[in-house]
Amino acid sequence: MEVIDLRDWDLPMFAEHIGSIGDRKDPTYSDPIVKRWNTKIKEADAYLVVTPEYNHSIPAVLKNAIDSVFVSFALRNKPIAAVSYSGGIAGGTRAIEHLAHIVIEAGAVPLRNSVIIPFVSAAFDEAGQPTDPASEIALTIALDDLAWWSTVLTRARSDGELAPGSFRARAAAAASGR
Ligand SMILES: Cc1cc2nc3c(=O)[nH]c(=O)nc-3n(C[C@H](O)[C@H](O)[C@H](O)COP(=O)(O)O)c2cc1C
Repeated sequence: MEVIDLRDWDLPMFAEHIGSIGDRKDPTYSDPIVKRWNTKIKEADAYLVVTPEYNHSIPAVLKNAIDSVFVSFALRNKPIAAVSYSGGIAGGTRAIEHLAHIVIEAGAVPLRNSVIIPFVSAAFDEAGQPTDPASEIALTIALDDLAWWSTVLTRARSDGELAPGSFRARAAAAASGR
């Protein structure tokens, strides 16, 4: 397991698009750090995203980090579980719902079971342990699911993957002369 903190990854905002990839076989992107970010995300088989809720969604930096690997398909056919927290009672549930929608478009597999941490300023004791035992239970369930899906999807990917749907749609349209 490797912990990745987006504060250590000063990714350019809003910079990646089809034209910034460069050579598709060895993409350069708009900046070397984006290339390193893509490599880092691509080498993992499963992800546990920890996110606060900002205006009923995920923070812009997290969205930008996902958008930056979208064109490389680094998340495709891999499971993503989530831990959310917020200052209020909702605990980031709306951020997790948004995250699921976003990563579907990136070809990832968002999982049902999450960890929701409301009133985050009172949710951990001085040793950094959760004060609500439900958090530990929810985390164990989410991690068990993540491990199961990781094994299943790693095996499935090694058996072979379909080309991305957008590529197949383009090929079918070209073959039909449209
Ligand atoms: C820009 C912004 C928007 C926020 N929007 C929400 C929100 O929609 N719902 C909520 O419960 N808390 C909201 N909060 C409170 C954060 O979830 C809470 O302060 C959290 O601890 C922030 O995490 P961070 O310090 O890791 O950024 C917001 C905070 C910020 C800074």
